[in-house]
Amino acid sequence: MDHFLYRDGALYAEDVPVSEIAAAVGTPFYVYSTATLKRHFQLFDDALAWGDHLVCFAMKSLSNQAVIKLLGNAGAGMDVVSGGEYLRAKAAGVPGDRIVFSGVGKTADEMRLAIEGGIRQFNVESEPEMIVLDQVAQSLGAVAPITIRVNPDVDAKTHAKIATGKSENKFGIPISRAREVYAMAAKMPGLKVIGIDVHIGSQLTELAPFEAAYNKVAELTEQLRADGHEITRLDLGGGLGIPYARSNEAPPLPTDYGALIQRTVGHLGCEIEIEPGRLISGNAGLMVSKVIYVKSGEDREFLILDGAMNDLIRPAMYDAWHDIIPVNEAPAGTSPARYDIVGPVCESGDTFAKGREMPPVKADDLVAFRSAGAYGAVMSSEYNSRPLIPEVLVDGDQFAVIRPRPTYEDMIARDNVPAWLE
Ligand code: LLP
Repeated sequence: MDHFLYRDGALYAEDVPVSEIAAAVGTPFYVYSTATLKRHFQLFDDALAWGDHLVCFAMKSLSNQAVIKLLGNAGAGMDVVSGGEYLRAKAAGVPGDRIVFSGVGKTADEMRLAIEGGIRQFNVESEPEMIVLDQVAQSLGAVAPITIRVNPDVDAKTHAKIATGKSENKFGIPISRAREVYAMAAKMPGLKVIGIDVHIGSQLTELAPFEAAYNKVAELTEQLRADGHEITRLDLGGGLGIPYARSNEAPPLPTDYGALIQRTVGHLGCEIEIEPGRLISGNAGLMVSKVIYVKSGEDREFLILDGAMNDLIRPAMYDAWHDIIPVNEAPAGTSPARYDIVGPVCESGDTFAKGREMPPVKADDLVAFRSAGAYGAVMSSEYNSRPLIPEVLVDGDQFAVIRPRPTYEDMIARDNVPAWLE
């Protein structure tokens, strides 16, 4: 569910007409709904209400500070994967004891930053990382709380580029070696083992892979406790998928996911952490773009938009589907047109959809990409020297630009030409 609906034929973001935002900020742009973000966070929080828990928003999916602040104010923790995300979370007012640090390649500098600023836990992914973290913590006279990410060798049944829980993936340590690695960690004076971490992939549309992974985590918890470790926290990762096409069957709801967690690991008495990104932010955002030209090819029509792959890379990178709808609703009974929907970037991969049926549109009309809140703005670039597009946050009948569009001058001024070339 989201808060982008038609009213009298015009698409609204909550109580603001999308066309009004377009007139104020120009196109293309991202727009996020406060109500949707809060609602999706709340669904997870409620789904885990049966026990001690913290929902840590995976900031990598949408990291604008305004969004982080509003979720932080609602009680969310943050899952960060870089020094930059850590500092962003802090800048948005999230306390260190609600920030978990994930990622397969944390550097000593990033570890130092997080220990000095305060951290809930590090999710450690390898022995070499463990050794470095132990040294960094000791050099600061600190003891770093850790979980160890285990790779349960479970098929997440999702796109290969976003599956992380199979043995061939670079993430975590093989679950078969976990006891050995925990024993090693327990001997390190700079570390305090507090739990287990697992994350098997993203955009999962079934619960079965989660169930398989969490059952393995439950079994491991008991083994590790028998080995003498105090396992008090389980970080169960993110990954619950969203319906990208309104016509598709919807993936399981957070409620079912929360019940699954209770069923598989609830009896262990651990504090539960989860790290959802996409389900909180995905359907909370649109990318709005304008039709520049409708061009007739030999056997097809191209809709050429002012948004491109550098603004929303998911279709080019993962063959992802996003529903694309006109901002002015077509009158009932209008027969659909069929388009190849593309951006202006100079490569054929800059294609959002092929042979897509949608109501007919013409030059200067606005279209909206649904489900663009997660992994949209954060993955954008300035390829083809196209300035990063702005982000807008709506709350009820008010909206604010939360990241402005850089001017061409801003963008060009970032390069330095060395004196020897002058
Ligand atoms: N925790 C960890 C350790 C992760 O690696 C991820 C996502 C998450 C949590 C959040 O997963 P989510 O709930 O958002 O599925 N760019 C890709 C998705 C990459 C996901 C990477 N890791 C896309 O656009 O589909």
